[in-house]
Amino acid sequence: MTAQDLLKREAAARALDFVTPGMKLGLGTGSTAEAFLELLAPRVHGGLSVDCVATSERTAKMARTLGIPLGDLDALAPLDLTVDGADEADRDLNLIKGGGAALLREKIVAASSKAMVVIADESKLVARLGKFPLPVEIVAFGHGATVSRIKSAAASLGYENLIVTQRMKDGAAVKTDSGNLVYDCAFKAITNAKALAAGLSMVPGVVEHGLFVGIATTLVIAHPGEVEIIPASR
Ligand code: 5RP
Repeated sequence: MTAQDLLKREAAARALDFVTPGMKLGLGTGSTAEAFLELLAPRVHGGLSVDCVATSERTAKMARTLGIPLGDLDALAPLDLTVDGADEADRDLNLIKGGGAALLREKIVAASSKAMVVIADESKLVARLGKFPLPVEIVAFGHGATVSRIKSAAASLGYENLIVTQRMKDGAAVKTDSGNLVYDCAFKAITNAKALAAGLSMVPGVVEHGLFVGIATTLVIAHPGEVEIIPASR
């Protein structure tokens, strides 16, 4: 296990303190969220009763393998808590998510939860979002035209000449669990996450973007020798 993996596991372990019996839980996607699942499973087998909703097919598969009970969001919402990772987080609890292409379901599940605890190693904590290219989920129909309109929307907010790259894997377009495409937008430095989130949401063809603004309630950041808890100030 790398030093970074150990930090992910420490953040995941600390998040277990937020879980109480009977909770309805959203389960995030990605390696840090998977560390949380690995630590949650023995608690479940030890008698902790929770009802969970997965944010991706990948997470659902792992939860089933680990024997974590899964249910349907429509039946369980509102959830008490979602625990998920992030690609970047700032101290105002704005996030970039979607590195694992699960941003749409991650946002639906988090928005359907009373609280969202974000777990990450310290490399994810940034002074300003944007170094990690922002994932945007786009409908396949007219996706080239949608990308042009994303660039125009970005330019109107001061992000000129935005580089937008379609996410590919093994020579094929990446498709999300909902069958859409993913484009990664190299903003480099996002000066106003709320304004950008609103601007991107206005573009027809954009299903969802990976900016999470006003959703996370607690950041759990693992540093070597210390786990830092950052609550939302709102
Ligand atoms: C998936 C996500 C993940 O939470 C994000 O990519 C972080 O992943 P990891 O914990 O593997 O670094 O948003 O869509």
